[in-house]
Amino acid sequence: EGGPALKRAAGLVREVPDFPEPGVLFRDIGPVLADPDAFGAVVHALGRRGDFDVVVGVEARGFLLGAAVAHACGTGVVGLRKPGKLPAVADRVDYDLEYGTATLELPADALESGQRVLVVDDVLATGGTLGAARQLADKAGCEAVGAAVVLELTALEGRAAVPDWDVQALFTV
Ligand code: PRP
Repeated sequence: EGGPALKRAAGLVREVPDFPEPGVLFRDIGPVLADPDAFGAVVHALGRRGDFDVVVGVEARGFLLGAAVAHACGTGVVGLRKPGKLPAVADRVDYDLEYGTATLELPADALESGQRVLVVDDVLATGGTLGAARQLADKAGCEAVGAAVVLELTALEGRAAVPDWDVQALFTV
């Protein structure tokens, strides 16, 4: 399923050894976004479930994907930001990373209670990021219908961070 452009997209994910630290194999979807056909196929596939009112994109690559998915599907897009960027914050969630902690902030006056939210991001790794996005959507009174990511690193079992959530991954490694 997905056609040749989506297959090509899978081959464009770049592997970068020892980034951001020694021993970590970083998956960079940059080349997928830079290729018109691959980008189009990925955006179409991420939005195809169609049962959402608004897209939530996670900083930073989730912004690029989320905005495109939202536009293609005729919805608006809301960006979850790293701390210190927003002039007005509705809510924030701290979560654990492999090493240390991180924070995501929801802008004020962005989500409305009752909206059906699709979270879009590039990579699902430990699931900490999706878990935080889910908490922010829940606390805003939204219905989190699920998440759509380009690449899932299955060995890290990130889906466990969002149990009972429908997570669609276009590619898995
Ligand atoms: C990466 C990726 C996801 C997150 C996934 O973002 O873009 O958002 O990690 O990891 P998790 O499932 O373990 O939470 P990163 O923190 O590198 O931020 P960036 O997109 O701003 O570079």
